[in-house]
Amino acid sequence: MRHLALLLLVVTSSKNFASPITETSSKLLWSTLISVFEVNTPGLRDPLISAALDSYENFALDENSEASKGDQYYQSQILGDKNRNNKVFSQNSAFEQLKEETMATAFAHVLKEFFNEQPSRAQLGGIFCWATVGGGGEQPTWHSPHTHQNSVLSAVYYAAVPDDGSGAPITFSDPRGPWTNLKHSHQPVNNTIVVFPSWLEHFIPPTNSPQYRISYSCNLPGSFKTTTDLNIEL
Ligand SMILES: [Fe+2]
Repeated sequence: MRHLALLLLVVTSSKNFASPITETSSKLLWSTLISVFEVNTPGLRDPLISAALDSYENFALDENSEASKGDQYYQSQILGDKNRNNKVFSQNSAFEQLKEETMATAFAHVLKEFFNEQPSRAQLGGIFCWATVGGGGEQPTWHSPHTHQNSVLSAVYYAAVPDDGSGAPITFSDPRGPWTNLKHSHQPVNNTIVVFPSWLEHFIPPTNSPQYRISYSCNLPGSFKTTTDLNIEL
């Protein structure tokens, strides 16, 4: 009889269910948004491949420097601390289009759509981009773990990725810290862009593919704080 009474109670309460709690709010705090875009502009990719290869082949490596070839090539493109112009590519129309149209659109979309923020003209005008060339049968190239200070969003355009599966993925470290020690690898695809918060630590593992791996990285200036809360309805 007692069992029957209990059963009746369960059935009754499941019929007229009243939750013991009421959700008042939930939000995605310090979440990590990774967005991938296909680039639709015809004729952008080939000149970007040529521009990177030309400049890379003509780049004078300092054999006495302790910096890696990749780091020296990056340094060769920086005109000045706060200068948005790239010393090597500023006269290249495909490079300018990548920066001012493609990347600016991707950055503005991510900020507006997911963080409810509108980038200022100054921010968009301050986008800085540079080329990275790896592989090509030379000594292994890689990029150590890093973040991008004084930036809100970072992005990489993949112009040429080895098609033999040896193209190194961009690898993101779990932002929850060293306790989890988890990584996420994003396998690049030709003519796509990956966008991520600039505070997210990332690196490129060594590449020694006989084929070139050519990419262009860009940063949107701003504060890490901008991407604290994802503006997604839960
Ligand atoms: Fe980076």
